[in-house]
Amino acid sequence: MTDFVHLFRNSAPYIHAYRGKTAVIWLRGKVLSQAAVQSLVADLALLNSLGLKLVIGFDAEEAEGARLDSEAPIDTTTMDAILARIGHWRSRLEAHFSQGLSNSPMHGARIRVIGGNFVTARPAGVVDGTDLLAQGRVRRIDHQAIRGHLDQGHIVLLPPLGYSVTGEVFYLAPDHLLVETARRLDADKLVIIGDDPLPLTDHQKELTAFELSQCLSRLDSEQAGSRELRAALAANDAGIGRCHVIDGQQDGALLGELFTRDGVGTMIARDRYDTFRAARTDDINGILALLHPLEEAGILVRRSREKLENEIDHFYVNERDGMIVGCAALYPMADTNPPVAELACVAVHPDYRQSGRGDALLSALEKRARQERIERLFVLTTQTAHWFAERGFESAPVSDLPPGRQQLYNYQRNSKVYFKTL
Ligand SMILES: CC(C)(COP(=O)(O)OP(=O)(O)OC[C@H]1O[C@@H](n2cnc3c(N)ncnc32)[C@H](O)[C@@H]1OP(=O)(O)O)[C@@H](O)C(=O)NCCC(=O)NCCS
Repeated sequence: MTDFVHLFRNSAPYIHAYRGKTAVIWLRGKVLSQAAVQSLVADLALLNSLGLKLVIGFDAEEAEGARLDSEAPIDTTTMDAILARIGHWRSRLEAHFSQGLSNSPMHGARIRVIGGNFVTARPAGVVDGTDLLAQGRVRRIDHQAIRGHLDQGHIVLLPPLGYSVTGEVFYLAPDHLLVETARRLDADKLVIIGDDPLPLTDHQKELTAFELSQCLSRLDSEQAGSRELRAALAANDAGIGRCHVIDGQQDGALLGELFTRDGVGTMIARDRYDTFRAARTDDINGILALLHPLEEAGILVRRSREKLENEIDHFYVNERDGMIVGCAALYPMADTNPPVAELACVAVHPDYRQSGRGDALLSALEKRARQERIERLFVLTTQTAHWFAERGFESAPVSDLPPGRQQLYNYQRNSKVYFKTL
């Protein structure tokens, strides 16, 4: 029970970070045919209900029992098999998304899955003297129509097909289609859920595009998992900030990847940005999500949204990957000589502690205080006295607080007072 409560509280900032973001998901053929697809769909439905906008693509690679190479010709028989397979998966997925049994995770979810003629294709044509027949290339994606559905909370299903202006249907390599869709939608993430063991070591859970291209240059292009990694690199080149490659056979892998610090798959990040900066109004929800568990635990004094909105200019945040993982606030006291300021709300998300973020927030605020010619800082703390003491703060009596702050001192809370001369 306590583990659950702890886990749930700490996932709030992640939930906030994903709300309103767009993710393109590529379900690899083999994952679809496994029993795990049902729980995968339930996890996708959960993400959708948390406000993550989802475009789900899938492939028909198992149609012929062989990999469909985007350079291989697709004759009528193969195309018929592909269409049959895509029709099958589309119906199966729609059925999975429609289930709402009271004992299933999707009870009452009522999810709308939309598909349609969003993609215009052209024939790949004759390549090196070979007519590739029904093998197509993406010509246009009606991203505005897709966006319209996403904004209504619908899940958009995107099979690897495109239609030509001449009324023909073409097979489209799913990696090209989904990377292009992610690019046109300006998606925040591409998530590839496959079942091939990736040719990477455990130390390569988070890679930059440069590190990934180095890895790929050493890999055989036929090696299992290399296609996923190549697609991830292409997504990165197309400007998609985060690309995750996950093993779909592992139950809960999708949630584990998106909602835990270390994830369970491989993430390719365009930039590993970890910024320390002044807070803005659009950080308010993220800050509230970070502070709430600490307020519940009595470590920090409760702050209403309204108070935070009014005081946002006093806050400084540490943002990582779109998520607020740390914050601190500085309140200069009026009419104090020498000038004094209160340091408050110093908090780092539990998953991100012990890596110097607290220190970085403190030094950023000390710098800001010096710029504002503040000479002394004080902090009121119940459980973190030693952390401040180790950073040059010294214990002081309540009577040392500026008179205006003394009047507000909560004797029931009995916080310790610490001062630091800058
Ligand atoms: C205090 C806090 C901000 C530190 O964040 P952090 O990013 O882990 O900080 P750093 O990585 O810079 O420092 C970590 C060090 O502080 C120590 N530390 C963490 N919490 C501590 C506490 N309550 N008392 C004493 N030391 C503490 C850690 O043990 C670690 O020391 P070590 O490396 O020698 O083991 C974070 O623990 C937190 O958010 N706590 C809850 C909120 C809080 O108490 N805020 C202060 C009230 S204003």
